[in-house]
Amino acid sequence: MNRPLRVAHRGGAGLAPENTLAAFRQGLAFKADAVELDLHMSQDGALIVAHDPNLKRATGTAGDIHEFTLAQLQQLNAAATYKDKTIEPQRIPTLQDVLELVRGRAKVQIEIKVRADDTRYAGIEAKVADAVRRYGMIDDVVVISFNFPTLHDITALEPRLQTCALFSTSYLSRFGVWRDDAEVAEDIASRGFRCVGAKHTTMTEGLFQAFRARDIQVGVWTVNDEAEMRKFAAMGVNFITSDRPDLLQKWLSDAN
Ligand code: G3P
Ligand code: CA
Repeated sequence: MNRPLRVAHRGGAGLAPENTLAAFRQGLAFKADAVELDLHMSQDGALIVAHDPNLKRATGTAGDIHEFTLAQLQQLNAAATYKDKTIEPQRIPTLQDVLELVRGRAKVQIEIKVRADDTRYAGIEAKVADAVRRYGMIDDVVVISFNFPTLHDITALEPRLQTCALFSTSYLSRFGVWRDDAEVAEDIASRGFRCVGAKHTTMTEGLFQAFRARDIQVGVWTVNDEAEMRKFAAMGVNFITSDRPDLLQKWLSDAN
């Protein structure tokens, strides 16, 4: 296979309510190589698949995920604010629900998030490692995060788990307007990372080559435009993450 891995962002957020089983089914239906999900923790320590630390945008209910128990969260509708009002109500899934659905059919990029105040969920790394081991998916999971200490901790707990460091415009802003691509790649390499996932607007040919020279894998998110998909495929990135797994399948087929 000489094409980037096709990663369905939040399951396929352009086709169904993000981070719901309906979205992950879309990712699988369009043959994504991997699905991406976002992870938080409930008050009683369950691993909760949702993007925002706060529930309002997706469910219409006020409050943060860590203030609710799993049982309470499961009363909410993760499709409550979705544009298509004909969709059935969707339960907020746990990590276990998604692994159960996806196991044997696609890989999973698990993004470990932080609370709204930027603090980490105590013990989330060990719970993720346990769940992945229990489902026998060590080789099929990549743990991703903007929070670099989270990635270092999970590597210490389970060195077999692959990790990928996410960075955005705010990380890059540390390097100044006239940033030196080699300096950025060196910074990532010096932290021990072998993979980066970058916001697509930050990924230039120069930065890509700086990573490649250090043998660091490169992915880009969130690419929903066909021309951009083809541009990054031609650049040679390792994975492309999109809300539109249907377009990934169309433009990044094995025949292309
Ligand atoms: O795959 C990385 C990407 O999901 C990071 O951004 O905000 O969509 O979680 P976000
Ligand atoms: Ca994410």
